This record gives sequence, structure tokens and C-alpha cells, in this order.
Amino acid sequence: MSSKAWTLEPKSFFAPLSASAEPNAATALAEGTAAGETARPLGGSVCFEQVGKTYVSSAGPVQALSGINLKIPAGSIFGIIGRSGAGKSSLLRTINRLERPTEGRVLVDGQDLAALDEDGLVRLRRRVGMIFQHFNLLSAKTVFDNVALPLRVAGAEADDIEQRVTELLALVGLRDKHGTYPSRLSGGQKQRVGIARALAHHPEILLCDEATSALDPETTQSILALLRDINRQLGLTVVLITHEMGVIREICDEVLVLEKGRIAEAGPVWRVFGAPTHDATRALLRPLEHDLPHDLLHRLRPEPSATGGSERVLELVYTGQDGIEPDFTRIAAALGGPVRLLHGGIDRIQGHSHGRLLIATPAPRPAAAELAALKLCHRARELGHVANHD
Ligand SMILES: Nc1ncnc2c1ncn2[C@@H]1O[C@H](COP(=O)(O)OP(=O)(O)O)[C@@H](O)[C@H]1O
Ligand SMILES: [Mg+2]
Repeated sequence: MSSKAWTLEPKSFFAPLSASAEPNAATALAEGTAAGETARPLGGSVCFEQVGKTYVSSAGPVQALSGINLKIPAGSIFGIIGRSGAGKSSLLRTINRLERPTEGRVLVDGQDLAALDEDGLVRLRRRVGMIFQHFNLLSAKTVFDNVALPLRVAGAEADDIEQRVTELLALVGLRDKHGTYPSRLSGGQKQRVGIARALAHHPEILLCDEATSALDPETTQSILALLRDINRQLGLTVVLITHEMGVIREICDEVLVLEKGRIAEAGPVWRVFGAPTHDATRALLRPLEHDLPHDLLHRLRPEPSATGGSERVLELVYTGQDGIEPDFTRIAAALGGPVRLLHGGIDRIQGHSHGRLLIATPAPRPAAAELAALKLCHRARELGHVANHD
């Protein structure tokens, strides 16, 4: 096998990372790299054509995937969500041919993966890196040796390995951990080693199967920031499975919802999350909804107070469509009275406002539906009334 297949490009190919990586990583990467330089856009598109997968098990055939037609654009961050057993891992693993579809085709940059011979498969696995929930590090090897492993397997020269591993460890913010063993690392640091190892061969696609599920929320944030930086700076396609909807909302461009091996819905995150059309999506998104705060729930009455002095409670929903944003001046003008914000919040997803606000107003009109008709929100409903003096 020729070592040329993986040989380093002549100059440093990592642009500086943004501040979200550890500072030593950013500094290391800035050295010897022209300011503002970004990696050249690579390939990394994936196309599924009528993909189906049936496993043969002792209990009989298990249809894990059926009729999957989908394109993952090169350079995007693409999320896959779905209940446990929906077929997420099966689908992801067809991209590096850890699983072969039983029907249909998977194409990476137009190349049919079914047609690959053994050498072709080796090349594919270098183009498609993968990281795992439990990191899959070798405990008897140092951080350096774990990252060096794929390069050694490929028959790389010691000097080139040294240079590449040093660069990769700087990229993931672990410059001072070369000689450390995995047992001495935190979960987040272990995943950084996993990411460095997955990037050893300059892949065009990075597959992440529940890569942050074993991490605490703060560490999850730092790993997500690293993945986003890698995506932006290296032009790498990232395909990730997660059960954390916040992760999808935070970094993905597009999302696929799988349900029982079929596509429930797919599209830009702002649209799918803003106006989910499938029950499976709504069920998955439920944890993101803010339920009514308890104190408000207790005070809410179906009718206005008989003695007067109560306020209507309205729920305004923003789904990101049509550029509609919460505008309190116009809302107050439409209601013809003051507005109090009781609860809720707005997230910006890819530049679209998305969220739910609960407001209270003494104004008896207009009906909630009129606020939506006036494009002051996407949906509105009246939840009830609260007495001012409660
Ligand atoms: N190697 C296998 N042999 C038999 N059945 C499998 C195998 N791998 C997955 N399955 C089954 O295929 C379905 C989809 O599994 P999987 O892709 O792992 O789903 P997810 O990642 O969404 O939880 C499940 O019913 C699972 O039990
Ligand atoms: Mg899985």
C-alpha cells in the first residue's frame, strides 16, 4: 500500500479555530497558517436511493429501514433523530459500509458503495471518519498512539505520523496530553481523542453516533462547538445521531426524523422544529416545550373574574416561517392595551425566530386568532384568565 495515499499536504491545512475550542488549540493552529485561510471545500455528499435494510436474526427478519430517499449536502451538519430502534444507526452505518443495504443504493459523491472492492473500501473508510458514544479508545495505548493508530495501519512514516498527530491533538485542544493514557482523561477529553483519530486521514465526512450521549451538558457544549468548528474550518460534512433535541437545534443545518425505519419528515431544522408535521417529531420535541409554570397554572381560570380586574392569558407561537418576529409594540397596538410578558422565550434557529410566549393583557379583544391573522405570531390561543390581585 502506498504511503502517498494519505501523505500530508505541503502546508498546514487547518485554519485557526474560533474561540470555542480550547485556547491552546487556537494558538497552535494559528501558527504557520495564514489569517482567514479556510480549508478548500471538499466533497462529502451522500445520497440514499430507495435504501432498505433487513436483518436476519434468530427471531426472524427485522426490517430496520425501508424506502429511504435522501440527500445529505456536502459540507452540511445533518442530524438524524428518532425513537430507539427507529433505524438511525443502521442508516448511518451504510455511509461507511459498516452495514450494506439489502435494497437500493448509497452513493458518496456519486460513487455507489456497493461497487467498491477491498481497496475501494479502505479508501472509503479514510474518507468517512466515525466517532462513538463510548469513544472506543485503546486503554493500553497513550493518547498519541490512539490517534496514530489509523496512520500506522496505513503504513505511514514515523516523521509524518508525528507531525500529523501533533497537529490533530492541537486541533482538538489536547496538545499537552500526548503521553497520557485514556483512563486519566475526562469524558470530553476522551471524545476529543476520538475526534482526532477520526480525522487522521483528512476525511470528507464525519459520522457521529450519539457522540455526546455519555457527556454532561457543559462538556456536550464544548464537543458540539468543536464539531461545528471542524465543519466550518475544514468543510467537512458531519452526520450526527442524537437523542438530545437541543443538540440538533444548536448545530444542525438539516434534520431527518426516522420512524420505524421510514422517513417521517426531513428538512431544514428551523422548519421541521418550527412546524413539525409528524407525530413522531412532535413526541421527540416535547422535552423542548416549556410547560406552563406551576404558579401560573394554579392561577389560571376559564372565565374572567366576576368582580373585574382580571387579565387574559394568551399563548403566542413563533415557528420561524415568513420572517414573523415578536413585536410587542404592534401586539399592544392590536390589543389596544398594555401587555405583560408572563413566561416563555424565543430562540433564533438559523436566523428564524422560534418559540412560545405567554402574555397577559386586560384588553378583552381581539380574539387570539386575529393576532395570527395580523401576522403578529404564527399561532395564538387563549389559555384563560388570571385575576390581577391573586
Ligand atoms: N445486527 C442486527 N441484527 C438484527 N437486528 C438488528 C441488528 N442491528 C439492528 N437491528 C434491529 O434493527 C432495528 C433498528 O436498529 P438501529 O438501527 O440500531 O436503531 P436506532 O439506532 O435508531 O436505535 C431495531 O429493531 C434493531 O433491533
Ligand atoms: Mg443507534
